[in-house]
Amino acid sequence: MHFSIESKILKTSCLTDILHACDGADYLNQNRLVQSLKISPPRRATSIYNLHFDIVHGCQLRCVGCPNSTLLPKIKRISVDDFNLFLGNIDVQRVHTMRLFNYGEPLLHKQLAAIVEQIPRQKWKTSIVEISTNGQKVNWGDFEDMLKLEVVNNLVISCDGDGSPEDYERLRPPSKWEKFIEFLERARELRDRWSPATQLMTRTVISDPKVKKTWYDLLHPLGWTPEFRGWMNLPDAQEHLSGRKTQVNKEVCFFLAESAQFSENPWHGEVNLLYVDWDGTVVPCCIHPQAAKLGNLREQTYNQILNGKQRRDFISSMKADRSSLSVCGNCEIGPPGDEGPSFRSVLEMHD
Ligand SMILES: C[S@@+](CC[C@H](N)C(=O)[O-])C[C@H]1O[C@@H](n2cnc3c(N)ncnc32)[C@H](O)[C@@H]1O
Ligand code: SF4
Repeated sequence: MHFSIESKILKTSCLTDILHACDGADYLNQNRLVQSLKISPPRRATSIYNLHFDIVHGCQLRCVGCPNSTLLPKIKRISVDDFNLFLGNIDVQRVHTMRLFNYGEPLLHKQLAAIVEQIPRQKWKTSIVEISTNGQKVNWGDFEDMLKLEVVNNLVISCDGDGSPEDYERLRPPSKWEKFIEFLERARELRDRWSPATQLMTRTVISDPKVKKTWYDLLHPLGWTPEFRGWMNLPDAQEHLSGRKTQVNKEVCFFLAESAQFSENPWHGEVNLLYVDWDGTVVPCCIHPQAAKLGNLREQTYNQILNGKQRRDFISSMKADRSSLSVCGNCEIGPPGDEGPSFRSVLEMHD
């Protein structure tokens, strides 16, 4: 029995495929084999903690701290059928938080309501659905239909700076302050009418905690709650507004860590993270739109990608020489427990 399993291993490089192929072998034999080969056993995920899905690839803004400011992406929108297909290939039971963006602008989608309608139809259940928008271009009819579904729990509008129109427009070109205020007012009215359980929040990047009061004074009377964060140094961004020199980490980052490394997270005892671009491409993280390609949900399930060759090879190259990787070699994110200054700067402005 051992001999026949080992011969299968010599013919393939994918551990998941090997263990599927070894139907006749008992669990102990498989485990002994995995230990003797000093390779990680496959990770069979039943849940995902963060699922970020770019229903629109790209954004019309060029926010100076965001990689889009130099990458200048073209706008691409997922079809409703593809979205349904890709979600169907996510083979888990539970998702903690699903975000309909990574580096794209979700309200540029022309069928937002039809897209959102697909989420509760899936075999898996998500506890939280979030949209974050720049709020600068809105198809109000489709947006209203989306709210009527009562699927989105968190509606977030991004606004950065010291709370003045000038700083906002400088940091998020070519945004207009009046459009931002219009979104705050109209979205709140529609939320009150159609989806009262939806939370209204801003995500506001600030450099100085003293400006919080200016934001509270503006936002609270309009019914919005700010969540503050500090600046991250993101690879390919036009400016690093943290004022720090980038401190590149050399280890395998947080986003590619083993589930067991997140031992302090109480949710379902495992942390799996999934980031998907508009065409089903699975990317490693939310620090850059495409640090690498790990697989595609058009032809693979999530668990196949999690245990697949592309992801393993990428982790191996990061272990061997992270500095040689074009994006990750300029990124500050370290492993769980030593996540680095960009992670900390997000947390340090929280109330
Ligand atoms: C990349 S945007 C994509 C979603 C959508 N287009 C929006 O504007 O909300 C997601 C969030 O990342 C934030 N962000 C971009 N660059 C950042 C940086 N350097 N540091 C911290 N947050 C940043 C944005 O302000 C926004 O809240
Ligand atoms: S860009 Fe940073 S966070 Fe993303 S995969 Fe590379 S090292 Fe990890």
